Amino acid sequence: MKHLNQRITLRLRLVTGMLITLMLTASTGITRAETVPTDQMRKVRNEFQDKKFGIFIHWGIYSMLGDGEWVMHNKKISPEEYAHLADGFCPSLFSAREWVLHFKEAGAQYVTFTSRHHDGFSMWNTAASDYNVMKATPFGRDVLKELSSACAQEGIALHLYYSHMDWYRPEYPTGSCKNVPHDASVANWPAYYAFMNRQLTELLTGYGPIGAIWFDGMWDHKEESFDWGLDEQYQLIHRLQPRCMIGNNHHSTPHDGEDFQLFEQDLPGQNTAGFSGGQTVSTLPLESCQTMNNTWGYSITDKAYKSSEEIIRRLVRAAGMNANFLLNIGPRPDGQLPDEAVKVLEDVGRFMQRYGKTIYSTRGGCVPPQPWGVTTQRGKTLYIHILNNEKDGRISNEGLERIEGHLSLLLPKGKYSVKSVKRLATGDALTFRHEAGGTRIFIPARPTTDMTDYILEAALN
Ligand code: GLC
Repeated sequence: MKHLNQRITLRLRLVTGMLITLMLTASTGITRAETVPTDQMRKVRNEFQDKKFGIFIHWGIYSMLGDGEWVMHNKKISPEEYAHLADGFCPSLFSAREWVLHFKEAGAQYVTFTSRHHDGFSMWNTAASDYNVMKATPFGRDVLKELSSACAQEGIALHLYYSHMDWYRPEYPTGSCKNVPHDASVANWPAYYAFMNRQLTELLTGYGPIGAIWFDGMWDHKEESFDWGLDEQYQLIHRLQPRCMIGNNHHSTPHDGEDFQLFEQDLPGQNTAGFSGGQTVSTLPLESCQTMNNTWGYSITDKAYKSSEEIIRRLVRAAGMNANFLLNIGPRPDGQLPDEAVKVLEDVGRFMQRYGKTIYSTRGGCVPPQPWGVTTQRGKTLYIHILNNEKDGRISNEGLERIEGHLSLLLPKGKYSVKSVKRLATGDALTFRHEAGGTRIFIPARPTTDMTDYILEAALN
């Protein structure tokens, strides 16, 4: 009876959803259908925005080659040869709990783990293929199970990266990434699609609550005629876990049914990395994923790590642009996080411990990004983050003006008014005045500390 009731409610909801979709189309003239999220999903999306900071993990048998997660494709390794990596995968120092404790210490609220990357190797005990960490490696442990338990224990949400593209399976119809050729005559989209949905079902039924499925690789087939079957797949996910969000790194404006929008190696609205040219910023929650060095998967030679200060500023900038920051780590083949990554996590953690209240549960502030930095806001509290005050290890005052012998910044005129301002680190009240162009705040001493992010707190009327 209970089930019957639930089914009826579900049907009703679906019908209502469809009606709203139709109404939207009729009243706004928008041709693409837009599914209206359930109240529950609206809440989930909001909570996700409050979390602000997550860790991305790229880890798989590719890590053993120490050359990034694209090594199979880049080096044109045949699936047969590549599969031998699995025979030697035995990360003797892997501890999911240790990972999660590091993430927690950094102040991260969720982790996004590569359950199956483009190389097609599954990092959980999937029944859909023996090509997985449990059955094909001497390690024989369900890495995802261990990670999900550690996350649950420490109160960290678990999100799963899942690749749409697959270089290993012959039934996947090869698209623009052609370095690992398959016999086109054996490509079988219906079989591959069923395989993916079977795997997604496992992931969403056997590993506790999953915060999000993070798709990637769709850009392998840009042809209009290629139908990825997203609607049905998205419905499956939302049906299995109504609180599980869907994001897709397709680099284009969000599709119907997606719950958050992704930006790879860029902040919303930017396109320095060249991936985001085809997308405009939507009203969905936003997430910017960025690497600590230049690679996602472990690279034994890539030591181009950004400084902790630079990473903190990127996190703050993301928050100021109303986006979450997903910071990547490529663990080593032995299962440990690289030392450089651990150091960054510790530094970010110190910052978040002290200043997290200016980030968590905030939204991009009423003052849009400025040459000197960004603002975040919670209710009537505006946090002013002066970020440009270090350049090449030296203090610079970019975007600040020296007026009447004092350093100052101008908050441009907007629909807000400032009641009081203080320097967050010391609590010192700062003087300010209203000018034609906005509110000018005087910064008494040239900042010599808090160079990473010099934060002011303003109370708004
Ligand atoms: C790109 C890459 C992939 C990586 C992802 C992370 O899509 O293909 O290797 O996992 O970006 O954003």
